[in-house]
This record gives sequence, C-alpha cells and structure tokens, in this order.
Amino acid sequence: MSQRMRELIELPRVAPSILSADFAKLGSQVEEVMAAGARVIHVDVMDGHFVPPITIGPLIVGAIAAQVHEAGGAIDVHLMIEAPERQIAEFAAAGADSITFHAEATAHADRTLGAIRDLGCLAGIALNPGTAVEAVAELRDLADVVLCMSVNPGWGGQSFIQGSPAKIERLRPLVGTAAIEVDGGVDPITAGSVADAGASLFVAGSAIFAAADPATAYSEIASAAGAS
Ligand code: DX5
Ligand code: ZN
Repeated sequence: MSQRMRELIELPRVAPSILSADFAKLGSQVEEVMAAGARVIHVDVMDGHFVPPITIGPLIVGAIAAQVHEAGGAIDVHLMIEAPERQIAEFAAAGADSITFHAEATAHADRTLGAIRDLGCLAGIALNPGTAVEAVAELRDLADVVLCMSVNPGWGGQSFIQGSPAKIERLRPLVGTAAIEVDGGVDPITAGSVADAGASLFVAGSAIFAAADPATAYSEIASAAGAS
C-alpha cells in the first residue's frame, strides 16, 4: 500500500478531492480524473466533531479502492476527526494508501504516525491555518506527508488563505524528507504560488469537480503546479 503512494509522490501530483464529486456517479467521476492523469485520489473524512460536517467513511474508501488501485493510483485519506487513532485500522483495511490526521485532533501524534506506518500506509500530519509550523518539529522522520491547510477544514469551495505560501516556506526546513501537501482553495491561480513555496502534493476539490469539464480543470491545475 505505502510503496505505491511513495513512488507516486516522488513527483509533484494534483490530488482530486472527491468531496466535491457527484456521489451518484462517483465511479465515473474518479475514472474521468484518472483518465486525465490523476493518480492520487483524496478522500475527506469529517466526523461532525472536529469539524461540523459529517462526510465519508471507510465504506466509500472500500467502494473505490479496487478501481483506483487497478488504474495505478493510490487513495490519500485526510481524517478531520477527533481521536483519529481509533479509526486508522478501518481505513487501512478499506484500502487507504496514506492516512493523514490533524495535529489538533489528538494528544498522541507520535504514536499515531507510527501506528499508521505499522498498518502499511504512509503517515501524514495536518495543520490547521491557526496552528504554528513548529507543531511538526518533533515529528520529523515520523511523517511521510505534512499537510498544510490553506483553508479552515470542513468545507470545499472556500477561498485560499493568502498567507499559505509563506507558511509552507516556514514549514519546509522542519519536515525533513516528508512531502508537503496543500489543501484548500487550490486552483490554476493559487497552485503556482504553493508549488514555488515547496508543496508537491496539491489537493483540489471544487476547482476540478465543480468545473464544466473536470479533466480539463485537472490538467490546468497540474500544469500550473508543475505536476504530472
Ligand atoms: C476541506 C478539505 C478539502 C476540500 C478542498 O476541509 O480538506 O480537501 O475538499 O476543497 P476545495 O479544493 O474546493 O477548496
Ligand atoms: Zn482534504
């Protein structure tokens, strides 16, 4: 599981977030962005506590896992839930290739990163806009991915927080070999600035799935980000 994701994120990648997809035709929406070149599919899990909405659980990860894996892709699970350590095994079993949780959501980030790796997934830690970059300083070498939120988590379609590229620059020296992922308000205009700042995994939801043509939208963001 983690090996596929590890190889994929050696190159910059745009990860379409299915949060903004049409769930009545999820399979064909995933197929459409993968045909356009996407290989990392981002899944936003919200529990109604850490953030107000309730969204996707392991059932949906399991529903798309075979399709994504057979097409050479990987599933990037973003947990916006309290006590993520209680849920990671279920997501790994459902087919997650990487699991990222929020530093603000657990007192046990070190242990949880290790537990995710033990389950065979890449391990990621996410930071809300209001959390200082130093929150990851003690986790260097334990995280494969550091996710910098460029909106406050909870909803697709929000405006990109303009200070995000500067925050990514401050993160860069603290993350070791981890990839920097950016999530929220990424579109063809903002993608370039976060790429220049050091991000290499670019989550985009509404800019892809709310576009008239998701495949073209994917390609425009990938090209702006210098991604494949
Ligand atoms: C927000 C989620 C994002 C969301 C991004 O809490 O973590 O992944 O799908 O949506 P856009 O790209 O529309 O800002
Ligand atoms: Zn996300």
